[in-house]
Amino acid sequence: MTNRRFILRRRPVGDPVPEDFELVSEPIPDVPAGGLVVRNHYCSLDPAQRGWMDDAPSYMPPIPLGEPVRATTVGEVYASDNPDFPVGSWVMNLSGIEEYSAVELGHFTAPIDIGMVDSPSKFLSAMGAVGLTAYFGMLEVAKPKAGETLCVSGAAGAVGSVVGQIGKIHGCRVIGIAGGAEKCRRLIEDYGFDVAIDYRGKSREDLVEEIAKAAPDGLDMVFENVGGDILEAEVHNLAKKARIVLCGLISEYNSVEKHGLQNLWQLIVHQASIHGFLIMDYADRFPEGGAQIAQWIAEGKVRIDEDVQEGIENTYDAFMRLFSGKNTGKLVLKIA
Ligand SMILES: NC(=O)c1ccc[n+]([C@@H]2O[C@H](COP(=O)([O-])OP(=O)(O)OC[C@H]3O[C@@H](n4cnc5c(N)ncnc54)[C@H](OP(=O)(O)O)[C@@H]3O)[C@@H](O)[C@H]2O)c1
Repeated sequence: MTNRRFILRRRPVGDPVPEDFELVSEPIPDVPAGGLVVRNHYCSLDPAQRGWMDDAPSYMPPIPLGEPVRATTVGEVYASDNPDFPVGSWVMNLSGIEEYSAVELGHFTAPIDIGMVDSPSKFLSAMGAVGLTAYFGMLEVAKPKAGETLCVSGAAGAVGSVVGQIGKIHGCRVIGIAGGAEKCRRLIEDYGFDVAIDYRGKSREDLVEEIAKAAPDGLDMVFENVGGDILEAEVHNLAKKARIVLCGLISEYNSVEKHGLQNLWQLIVHQASIHGFLIMDYADRFPEGGAQIAQWIAEGKVRIDEDVQEGIENTYDAFMRLFSGKNTGKLVLKIA
């Protein structure tokens, strides 16, 4: 009985390469006093993990070299020294990409009822940070009003697709920017967006023009997941008092040279605001957000897709799907 662990060996420079990681086999850990050993079944693969691999100031410390890549996981208690978490019960946890995690209970470990869902992976998608990021980013920062225009980048991805659907629930006109014809088709047919813009092969000027055509009165809200030229093209098309939710900058996570916004002046011109958003800020309100998302899903108003890849030995290839755009929905790795 061994524990395979997906270790960060060295810090990636630019695009991560397989040599930055190593799959090692170690003995299953002992149970920490008052804690647990969890058999991880599903690991969340998130763009944020790329940032945690860098030794740069962030909202979390860098992943230590020689330790598994940090991930939110869902798993079954394998051994326990805590009566609140009996063997066989299920938990959600911030641990690492490894088959077994020794868990000293902290504020991120939570029991889950997998009887509520058709797959435990749902706790990483519909019942996890994806829906909550879209919910709090939209409701608390963007504050949509009926008749307004919302533009979301990374629109066919996990967070982006839910953002657009919440915009529709609130009576907004929703423009999505995504890569490729198939993703654009899904924006309209699967998620109910009004306009889909394919950014691939387009210059910043092309994007400025396409957004202007889709939103002649300007963008009241921008939900930004990508950054770079896409953000710049959106900022060229703001309406007065526009709100920009800065949720992610995935186009820059692997860049050694960061892009930087060249047209900040437009924020002054349009008296617009830009708000750096972090889902952890809303942790004490997760039950409220989760209940609303669950209700919208039950009512058929929100659809959340998953892209489940299998095998801890395939972690690198699975993770890189986020940057090639191959993932179709919330990317999850099944390791048990
Ligand atoms: N602030 C927070 O609290 C918070 C929480 C969760 C997520 N996020 C952020 O939300 C964003 C989306 O995360 P997610 O988990 O939902 O991932 P996702 O959107 O499901 O997957 C990432 C997508 O990004 C797009 N992409 C990758 N490289 C790109 C590039 N160079 N230019 C344009 N698009 C690119 C790809 O779609 P295409 O095929 O369309 O290119 C890819 O499918 C990320 O920026 C993430 O960091 C922030």
